[in-house]
Amino acid sequence: MVNEDSPSRGGPREWPYPQPSAIEQLGDMDRDDALAFLRQLRDLLMVHKFGVDELMTKLRIWSEEFDHAHEHDPIEHISSRIKRPEAIAAKLARRGLPVDPVSAREHLTDIAGVRVACKFISDVYLIRDLIRQHQIEIVQTKDYIAAPKPNGYRSLHLIINVPVHLSDRTELVAVELQLRTIAMDFWAAVEHELLYKSGGQVPETFAAKLKAAAEAAARLDAQMTSLHERSERASG
Ligand code: GTP
Ligand code: MG
Repeated sequence: MVNEDSPSRGGPREWPYPQPSAIEQLGDMDRDDALAFLRQLRDLLMVHKFGVDELMTKLRIWSEEFDHAHEHDPIEHISSRIKRPEAIAAKLARRGLPVDPVSAREHLTDIAGVRVACKFISDVYLIRDLIRQHQIEIVQTKDYIAAPKPNGYRSLHLIINVPVHLSDRTELVAVELQLRTIAMDFWAAVEHELLYKSGGQVPETFAAKLKAAAEAAARLDAQMTSLHERSERASG
């Protein structure tokens, strides 16, 4: 069953057009510059929203098709987000890059983000393989499952170029696709919240416990895989 937490929930007129409050969050910029930035960003955000829409449709089709054909749905839930204008401006400024939409398009590959939670690790790689087989270019792979981050974080990150067929042209839109198991997703959600609550730095006492929890989540994934394989053999 695919649950969505889509930023398009607000309706087509509200999103991807930056909200009036966005101007307040671009506090570092001159008001006229901020207005111009937001106006120019509209096209870029819109095409990224279409990229997300395209990818979500593919994922939904695979989810339903696999459930139908194999009585196994590889996708547990999907969420997506479009980076907020103030976060785009902040990331460009942090990297010392020009704060304009051309620069955003050229340098940022995480304006559009899609996150998929799967039951099993094999499902994560299945989705990756389906993307490959459908000629969607994978421009970057970071496999934090094969090589977890030092804090214990695990996920497969892909930057993919999704073709968006507009009325007069086709645009390739970069989408950051994060694929993980439900156990990895649980861990990442808790770690994110702890990090946020402690102002960006997890206290030393939590860090070791978080790492142990990540290892427990990895063991759970292995146990679930073993159960899954047994049940497949039994029914196969
Ligand atoms: P950014 O500049 O932050 O986008 O990072 P990056 O370019 O090094 O990319 P990376 O692929 O490592 O991480 C991108 C995204 O993955 C982040 O924005 C998070 O959503 C997620 N992520 C990466 N590391 C962690 C982590 O340690 N904990 C959690 N909860 N999420 C993470
Ligand atoms: Mg990011």
